[in-house]
Amino acid sequence: MEPQGDIAVIGLAVMGQNLILNMNDHGFTVVAYNRTVSKVDDFLNNEAKGTRILGAHSLQEMVALLKKPRRVMLMVKAGKAVDEFIEQLLTVLEPGDIIIDGGNSLFEDTIRRVKYVESKGLLYIGTGVSGGEEGARHGPSIMPGGSPAAWPHVKPIFQAIAAKVADGTPCCDWVGEGGAGHYVKMTHNGIEYGDMQLICEAYHIMKDGLGMSADEMHEVFKAWNEAELQSYLIEITRDILAKRDEDGAPLVDKILDTAGQKGTGKWTVISSQEMGIPITLIAEAVYSRCVSAMKDLRVQAAKVFPPGNCKIPGDRKRWIDDIRKALYASKIISYAQGYMLMRAAAQQYAWNLNYGGIALMWRGGCIIRSAFLGDIKKAFDKNPDLPNLLFDPFFKKAIKSCTRSWRKVVSTAVKKGIPVPAFSTALAFFDGFRSERLPANLLQAQRDYFGAHTYERVDKPRGEFFHTNWTGTGGRVASSTYTV
Ligand code: 6PG
Repeated sequence: MEPQGDIAVIGLAVMGQNLILNMNDHGFTVVAYNRTVSKVDDFLNNEAKGTRILGAHSLQEMVALLKKPRRVMLMVKAGKAVDEFIEQLLTVLEPGDIIIDGGNSLFEDTIRRVKYVESKGLLYIGTGVSGGEEGARHGPSIMPGGSPAAWPHVKPIFQAIAAKVADGTPCCDWVGEGGAGHYVKMTHNGIEYGDMQLICEAYHIMKDGLGMSADEMHEVFKAWNEAELQSYLIEITRDILAKRDEDGAPLVDKILDTAGQKGTGKWTVISSQEMGIPITLIAEAVYSRCVSAMKDLRVQAAKVFPPGNCKIPGDRKRWIDDIRKALYASKIISYAQGYMLMRAAAQQYAWNLNYGGIALMWRGGCIIRSAFLGDIKKAFDKNPDLPNLLFDPFFKKAIKSCTRSWRKVVSTAVKKGIPVPAFSTALAFFDGFRSERLPANLLQAQRDYFGAHTYERVDKPRGEFFHTNWTGTGGRVASSTYTV
């Protein structure tokens, strides 16, 4: 009998299982395999019962069940496990077959793996899959990149199972070569960190500054979810605030305030340092998780520096509106920074990224899905070469309408000792970005003073470098001029 399997999925943790069930719902025959083989039968006898999903108990059996070119998707932990499976798969697959990594892999690993797998005559895709368990089951956002020749073979499956926007367009399209798919997913996750931190700061001000209860904040997030901030993360925050523990108290108040992280936010910041792009909001979001994780030290520090009165006087309704505007403006900054990062990476790695297309992929299915991404899509549709989101008329107007509230919220939080690192770094970036002249002239003078690092002059063409013998005792020789 001819093999029936359209695709194999390796890894039967929740994301793998749900993707398989989603593919099955869309008429594909999926072969399921797991390193701990007992999980395969367990899956077939439970979640996959009554479906056309096939089980394999070895890689050889899995390969024999697949149509050619074989498509094998890894849904295993990022890192070593991916490399180990690639090695094993190379012994059982044939040239032309396709290996797909659907985990949160580091894009540099994906660049290396694409080259390696292609050198063996096979094709490789590294794809971001966002949306958590629910997304995987009912429609994730999928961001594939790697060997372009693999895309036509994978496209029908991925686009069928992906989330769809209102007009039916799937939240999945080809991102680019090499590690482009995983880079875009990494940036998505960095932005996810930023969005979550912004929401947490709004919550913190409302809770400690305005003294609001979980129920009251639930109402605020409910209202915010019906306007320009409408998004999955605002929606789940609304629901989290309404959730009660067994004793009837809000569950959120019982949760220890130490955040975890699996690394994609950190990678975004590391990459931004490599690219020289200020991803200040995401960086603060990552560091805020680090500060939160220092629970014991914080408890000690709170005794040494006890907080003062952080209650914010004034009309609560007005404050809530100001906080909404501060959040919205900061969010615009975060996305503007994220898009600057992707633009720099595209240049560095020679990826032809479609920025409107990325906004569309993020419009549905993924964790940062929001109405806002529809506005970003429109901005890039109008001007695909938009150098910065802040120059788009819609966002320019939006930022201008929020600035007064944004400054009011940041300055009040600072006065009251409520930490708002993401709100304030967004504002500081905005003020720096819109400054025609920054104090870097003095900085250049300092560099030249102590290290003869040279400077450019306002009254001379760019690219001409000067050195001054500041003390009269220095030499005439400058050090070489370069910027990393
Ligand atoms: C998604 C998420 C997901 C991410 C988790 C955990 O797009 O579905 O971004 O990929 O891994 O949310 O991230 P942290 O543990 O780092 O918060």
